Amino acid sequence: MSDTATPTVIRREDYAPPAFLIDAVDLEFDLAPEHTVVKSTLRVRRNPAAKPAPHLELMGEQLEFIGAQIDGNSYENVRAHEHGLTIENVPDAFTLALTGACNPEANTTLSGLYVSSGNFFTQCEAEGFRRITWFLDRPDVMSTYTVTLRADKTACPVLLSNGNLIEAGDLPDGRHYAKWEDPFRKPSYLFALVAGKLVALEERITTSSGKEKLLQVWVEPNDLDKTRHAMDSLIHSIRWDERRFGLELDLDRFMIVAVSDFNMGAMENKGLNIFNTKYVLANPETATDVDFANIEAVVGHEYFHNWTGNRVTCRDWFQLSLKEGLTVFRDQEFSAAMSGGDENEAARATKRIEDVRVLRQMQFAEDAGPMAHPVRPESYVEINNFYTMTVYEKGAEVVRMYQTLFGRDGFRKGMDLYFQRHDGQAVTCDDFRRAMADANGRDLAQFERWYSQAGTPRVTVTTHYDAAAKRCSVTLSQGYANGSPAARDTQKGALLIPFAIGLIGPDGADLPLRLEGESSSSGTTRVLELTETQQTFTFVDVAHKPLPSLLRNFSAPVIVEYDYSNDELAFLLAHDSDPFNRWEAGQRLATRELLALAARAATRQPLAINDALINAFGRVLNDASLSPSFRELALMLPSETYLAEQMAESNPAAVHTARQFVRKGLAAALKSEWLVAYDANLTPGAYEPTPEAAGHRGLKNLALSYLSELDAPADAVRLATAQYSAANNMTDRAAALSALMNAASGAGGDQAKQALEDFYVRFEKEPLVIDKWFSLQATQRGTAQRPTIETVRALMRHPAFNLKNPNRARSLIFSFCAANPAQFHAADGSGYAFWAEQVLALDAINPQVAARLARNLELWRRFTPALRDAMRAALEQVAAQAKSRDVREIVEKALA
Ligand code: TRP
Ligand code: ZN
Repeated sequence: MSDTATPTVIRREDYAPPAFLIDAVDLEFDLAPEHTVVKSTLRVRRNPAAKPAPHLELMGEQLEFIGAQIDGNSYENVRAHEHGLTIENVPDAFTLALTGACNPEANTTLSGLYVSSGNFFTQCEAEGFRRITWFLDRPDVMSTYTVTLRADKTACPVLLSNGNLIEAGDLPDGRHYAKWEDPFRKPSYLFALVAGKLVALEERITTSSGKEKLLQVWVEPNDLDKTRHAMDSLIHSIRWDERRFGLELDLDRFMIVAVSDFNMGAMENKGLNIFNTKYVLANPETATDVDFANIEAVVGHEYFHNWTGNRVTCRDWFQLSLKEGLTVFRDQEFSAAMSGGDENEAARATKRIEDVRVLRQMQFAEDAGPMAHPVRPESYVEINNFYTMTVYEKGAEVVRMYQTLFGRDGFRKGMDLYFQRHDGQAVTCDDFRRAMADANGRDLAQFERWYSQAGTPRVTVTTHYDAAAKRCSVTLSQGYANGSPAARDTQKGALLIPFAIGLIGPDGADLPLRLEGESSSSGTTRVLELTETQQTFTFVDVAHKPLPSLLRNFSAPVIVEYDYSNDELAFLLAHDSDPFNRWEAGQRLATRELLALAARAATRQPLAINDALINAFGRVLNDASLSPSFRELALMLPSETYLAEQMAESNPAAVHTARQFVRKGLAAALKSEWLVAYDANLTPGAYEPTPEAAGHRGLKNLALSYLSELDAPADAVRLATAQYSAANNMTDRAAALSALMNAASGAGGDQAKQALEDFYVRFEKEPLVIDKWFSLQATQRGTAQRPTIETVRALMRHPAFNLKNPNRARSLIFSFCAANPAQFHAADGSGYAFWAEQVLALDAINPQVAARLARNLELWRRFTPALRDAMRAALEQVAAQAKSRDVREIVEKALA
C-alpha cells in the first residue's frame, strides 16, 4: 500500500464463500536462512456452493515466483503481482504445483517463515501463510497437509511440522529430511514448521479412551531445566478437558515449541503449538508465581484450542471470538479449577477477580475509545489489530453468560451439540449460539445483541423496601453512558443480561430469596434475567430491610450504578457471602476516596485520608478467616490507569499524587499490621509454586511494598535487603528489588543500586529475567532530578537492548508507555515524543508490534487539555510518517 492510498476496509457483510476449494496440500521445503524454496502441490476444485469464477486468485506476499504447473504440465497463464498470483482460465478440478522462494533471515515481522537464534519458525495466524506460499489463505478453506522438510543436518538436526512423523532420513551433502502428515483437515493459519537445534522434555500418557500419546516440550538446549512446569500444565490441561468437557487429545503426538522472538503469547497450530518463551520457561530461580500461573493458563489456552478453534474453526476472521472468547473462557475455568478445585468457591473467586480486573481496566477502556467494536466486529483494515481485549476478554464473558444462564450442565449440553453439529467445519458465532439455544430449549435471538453491539452497558439499580408488606422491589434499567459511541449508535434494543443478586440481612447473613409468584423461597443468590430497558423484580417474605449484593460474581460485563453509602460498602466488604462482591465493595470504597483526592490534587488543595478506608482495609488485613490471596487482592488499590479513566478529564499526575498519598497513609496507619503480615506469611523451605504458597508470598510482598512507601522506610529496606539476598525464588527476589527501588528516594538508595547491579550480573544469561530488569526500571517512580524517561533513554543504548525482539521492546518501551502513566504523561510531552519515535522505529521492523504500541495514545481525547494537545501532535506525526497498514489503521481511527 502506498503512503496516500485509503486503506481497504474489509466488511463482514461482504462475506462470500471461496470460488475454489483446496482438498489436499503437499509442501516441500528446502530450508536455507536467506533463500528457502517452497514447492506447494494443491488439489484444487471449484466450490459447488460459490459463484463460478474463471480465474483462481491466490494470495501471496513477499514471495519470489519460480514456476507453476497444472496436472504435471508447466502452465504459463499465471500472473504474479503484489498481492499474489492470478492463475487464468483453470479447469474445474486440477492439481496445481507452485514453486517459490522467500527470505526467512530478512523477515523481521515474525509473520510467515522467519529465523530466530538460528532456528526456523513459522507464524501463520492470521494471514502469515501467504508469506510462505500462494494459497487461499482464509479460514474457510480446509485441507489435509503433508509436509516434507529438508535442511542441513548440523544446523537443523530437528525438523517438525503438524501431525505425525511418517518418514525421515539422510540426503546427500550433509542434508536430511523429515516428512509429516496431519490427518485432520485444517485452515492454513494452523500450519506450522520448526527446524533447528532444539531438545525436548518428553512424557508419555494414556488418555481417557486408553490411547497412548507422546508429549514433547521443545526448547534450546540451555533451557531444558525450565520445561517441567509447562509439561505438567499440559498434562493437567489434557486431564481437565477430558473431565469437564469429555474432549480427548486426537493426535498421537502433541508438541510445544518455545521461541524467544514472538509477536504474541502463543499459537495453537495443530499438534505443534509455538510459544513465546515467556509462556513456557520457568524454574523457581527465574520465574515468579505470576509467571508460573500465566504459563499454566497459556498452555491450557493453546491446548484447548485443539477442539475450540482447530476441530471447529472460524468461517471468517469476523468470527474470531468464536474460538478466542470460548477458549479464554475455557482457560479461565481451567485456572480456577487448578487454583482451588471445582468446589472451593473462595479460591475460584481469586481467579475471577483477577480476570474482571483485566476486563475492566483494559476492555472497558477499549470499548470507550476509537477502537470500540463489537465482539464480532463489522469491519477491519488489518485483522491483526482485532486480536483485542473485546474479542478475547469480553468474548469470554459472553460465553460465560451462557453458563450463568443454563448452569454447568446446560452449558455442557450446548458444547456437546456444538461439536456434534460442527466438528470439522468452519462456522460462525451464530452457530455457537444456536447450539446453546437448541441444547437448552431456549430462544436466544435477543442474546445475539451481545455480538453486534459495541460499548459497555450500564445497569442502574434502585431498590424499595416496604417494611409492612415485607416486600423488596429491585428495579434494573439498562443503557449506555451519555455521549458514548454505543449511545450514539442506532440502538439495537435491550440486551439479555443475567443479573445475579443476593439480599443481605442486618446481621450480615444472606436472606432466603422468594420472588413474587413463587411458592417457596430457594437459594440465596438469584440470577435475574433482565430483558427489557427497565424491569422491576419483587422479592417477598423479606423479613428485614436488606442490603442488595449486586451482579454477584460479575455475572455480566456491565457497569453497575447503585448509590451505596460508605458504611454500606464497608458492611459488604466485611460480610458479603459472595467473595467477588466483597472484593468489589472494597474497590468501590477505595475508588471513591481516590477519585475525591485526585480531584483535590488536580486543584492543588490539601489532602487528607478518610478513616473509613483505613479501618476497612485494616479489618481485611487482620481477618485470618480470609485467604492470603484474597486479602492481597482486596488490599491492592485500583491502578492509576483505571482511576484516570474514571475522571471526567484524565489527569495522571493528580491520580498518581492521590494514590501515592493513600498508599503512604495506609502504610503508616497500618504499619505494625503490615509487619505482622510480613512475618506471618513467610514461606521457608524449598520453593513450591502451589496456590497456597503463592498466596502467602503475595500477601507478604504486598506488605513489603506498602512498607516501602513510608517516609522513613528503614524497616522495608532491612527486610527487603535480607529477602533479596536470601531468596531461593524469583517471586521473592524481584519483590525485594522492587521494594528497594521504591524506597530508594528514602533510605534505600545504595541498596537499590547494588541489588539492581547484582540482579543483572546474576541473570545475564537468562533473557526472560533481563526483561524483568528492564521493566522494573521502566516502571519505577521518577524524581524531579531524574525523570524515568532519562533512565529509559539510557537503557535504549544498553548492549542488551534489542528493538527487534518483541519481549525486549515490551519490557522497556511498552512498560514505560503503558505501565508508568505518571512518568509517561509528563507535562513536557517528553513521553509522547519518545512514543512517536518508537512507534515509527518499530513500524519499519515489525508492524504488528508497532500497532500495539500505537494504541497507547488512543484515549487522548479524554485527557486534560494540555496533555490532549501534545498527544494529538504526536499522533499526527505518526500518521504522517507511518508506512504499515497496521499502524495507520490505529492512528487514523484515533484522529478521526
Ligand atoms: N491464536 C493465538 C491465541 O492463542 C493468537 C496469536 C498468536 C496471534 N500469534 C499471533 C494472533 C500472531 C495474531 C498474530 O490466542
Ligand atoms: Zn487463543
